[in-house]
This record gives sequence, structure tokens and C-alpha cells, in this order.
Amino acid sequence: MRIGVVRETRADERRVAATPETAKKLIGKGHELLVENGAGSACSIPDAEFVAAGAKVVASAEAWGADMVLKVQKPTAEEAAGLREGAVVVSFVYPGGDDELAAVLRQKKATVFAMEAVPRISRAQTMDALSSMANIAGYRAVIEASYIFPRYLPLLMTAAGRVPPAQVLVVGAGVAGLSAIATAKRLGAVVKAFDTRPAVKDQVKSVGGEFLQLDATQADAEDKGGYARAASEEMLGKIRALLHDAAVQSDIVITTALVGGRTAPRLIEAHTVEQMKPGSVVVDLAVEGGGNVACTRRGEAVEVNGTTVIGYTNLAGRMPFDASRLYARNILNLLVHMHGKEGFNIDLADEITGPVSIMHGGEGRVDAWKGAN
Ligand SMILES: NC(=O)c1ccc[n+]([C@@H]2O[C@H](COP(=O)([O-])OP(=O)(O)OC[C@H]3O[C@@H](n4cnc5c(N)ncnc54)[C@H](O)[C@@H]3O)[C@@H](O)[C@H]2O)c1
Repeated sequence: MRIGVVRETRADERRVAATPETAKKLIGKGHELLVENGAGSACSIPDAEFVAAGAKVVASAEAWGADMVLKVQKPTAEEAAGLREGAVVVSFVYPGGDDELAAVLRQKKATVFAMEAVPRISRAQTMDALSSMANIAGYRAVIEASYIFPRYLPLLMTAAGRVPPAQVLVVGAGVAGLSAIATAKRLGAVVKAFDTRPAVKDQVKSVGGEFLQLDATQADAEDKGGYARAASEEMLGKIRALLHDAAVQSDIVITTALVGGRTAPRLIEAHTVEQMKPGSVVVDLAVEGGGNVACTRRGEAVEVNGTTVIGYTNLAGRMPFDASRLYARNILNLLVHMHGKEGFNIDLADEITGPVSIMHGGEGRVDAWKGAN
């Protein structure tokens, strides 16, 4: 098969969907790798490294015209028009009702593997791009906050006197939250965390955080897939009160709470941010799902009464080298999973391949297409 690796065109996207390491492995399986020129340049992978791995560097149209196209962000309808008939596209898709793109992919009789639809099961962990990117985003949230924060994070005893450690609050202790807790702890901060899923308590402790306990617990906080269920309005009121008290005592607040992996509950209100200490920083990682913080502005850093509220999207894309390395390996592992002796075998009955294939030969599973995972 000819496998194309195309250059990302979204303004904030610096990742690439294959690296010389994964290209070499795919070539080893008998495929030809066609890398669009400059595809890796935004994440510091020069074309020459792809060539050294055995790939061919080609013009855009040739990479898009391959049998399979590897990508990070979903293609635009215009880009998809460059696919050959029957092509396979492997990418994050997050369709959100992109009917124009869906129509082009149908017309091209495309097969689409949506990376966000990899099931969260043990067998698929090596392919779980949501987790690998969330891990990076949690780390990067702490780095972004500490860059703006006008103080040290660790406790310091200096000749000029003692400097107290920073107080960090992490809201939502899933993959991104746990990564943020571990990072802030490694940098020497005192870290507290809250989540509605009681199962998370021990995980928070194991990475060095203190779990904030709500007196009333939610009996059915978790669904079968391990995702949080939406909290009731009454419960949300209690959570907001708890987080208000915790946030005004904190220097850095990082919010990561999502329900069903997609929707962000509003957990921190404007008056809470207004009452935080001047110089504090809030990073709202749930911005793609609407944000956990009332003052967040998508894609921006805004100041609210002396506190900076960061609503940057695609934090993983701000560490494009490692993000590409991990994402490319997730794709490679998915493709190897589907690979038989003779090439790719797309078995829709398979517990991983089935959910990932949101379109097969132009036939869309519209329910999945409208919101995988
Ligand atoms: N391969 C696997 O087995 C695998 C891989 C990844 C995740 N998972 C499971 O899925 C879980 C969630 O993963 P995720 O990080 O993608 O979650 P997510 O991004 O959907 O949500 C982040 C966190 O927000 C929390 N949250 C939701 N509403 C909240 C509220 N009102 N207040 C406070 N916190 C709230 C959730 O409980 C979750 O921990 C994991 O912790 C794990 O149990 C399993």
C-alpha cells in the first residue's frame, strides 16, 4: 500500500502523524511511505530524516493521492477532495456535524479510522491517542501556568529567607489531571485535587496529591466505560462551593473535568476567579468541551482581576515533537493490530477495529460519526 503522511494546515497544529521511527516500521511491513514535503518541519523533523528512514518525500497532491492517508486533525472538505477513490484516512475526526466533509468522504467511498474512537480497553491502550495526548496536555498545563506565575513552585530556603511552595488545585483527575498533579508535584508545589469519581482517590494520592473530599458522594459517578456521569444540579452546587473555597486559597488552578469524554461541566464561577490572589493562574483544559471556568475564552489568555485565565486549545500541539512521537506510535499500533500477513484486514467485528472504523467504503455509521467515544 502507498501510505501518505500529509502536512497539517490548521493554524495551531504543529504535530505530524508519522515519524521516521513509525515510517520505518510501516516500510518494514511492505508499504511505501509518501511524506509530503515539510510535513514534520513544525515539530523539528526534517524531510531528510524521513528519507533516511526509507520514505519518499513528495508534493502535497501525491501524498493526498495515496491509498491511505495519515493525519492529526480531520481533513477539510477541500483536502478530502484530493483523496483517491476508496482511500483510507486515519486521523482525529471529531465530526461535530461536519456534513460537508462527510459528503466528500462518502463520495470518495473512503474508509475512516477515527483516532478518538479507539475504545478505552486494556487491549487498546497502546493505540489510545486520547490518553497519550491528555497526558501531554496535563504536563503542559503546569508548564504554561508556571511560566506566567510570578513565583517559584517549590519551597525554598535561601540566604534571603524562606519562599513558601505554590498551592496547586487540579479539578478532574482523569488522564490529564493525574499528569498535571504529578508534574506540579515534581516541581515542588503542594497539590490538591478533586474528582466526582471516588475510584480516583487512590490514584491522586499515588502521584502525590491530596484528594479533596465532598461530604456527599455521588453514588453512580462512573459509567461502565470508566467515564464520569453528569452530576445533578444539586451536586454541582456543592462542587462549586467546595472548589470556590479551594480555588481562592490556591495559586494555580488546572481544570480538566469532562463528562463522557466530551462535555465540560461549569465548575468555577466568575466570582471565584475574581477572588483569587493577584498573580494566580487558571488553565482550563476543558475548553474544547465548553470550559469548566466561567471566564475562559477559547484560544486566549485573559486577565480577570489580576488572575490570568488560559483557554488555549490543543496544548499537546504545543509540545509537537513528543506529541507526534506518541501519536504516530498510537497510529502504528492500530495499523499493526489490523495487519495480517498479506496486508490490512479491516474486520468490523473486531472489538477495536469496529468502533474505530466510523466509515467503511463510504458507508458511514452515522451514530458514531456524530460523536465517537
Ligand atoms: N485503556 C483504558 O483502560 C483507559 C484509558 C483511558 C481512560 N480510561 C478510563 O477513563 C477514565 C477517564 O478518562 P479521561 O481522562 O479521558 O476522562 P475525561 O477527560 O472524560 O474526564 C476527566 C475527568 O473529569 C472528571 N469529572 C467529570 N465531571 C466532573 C465534575 N463535575 N467534577 C470533578 N471532576 C469531574 C472525570 O471523572 C474524569 O476523571 C480514566 O480515568 C480511566 O478510568 C481507561
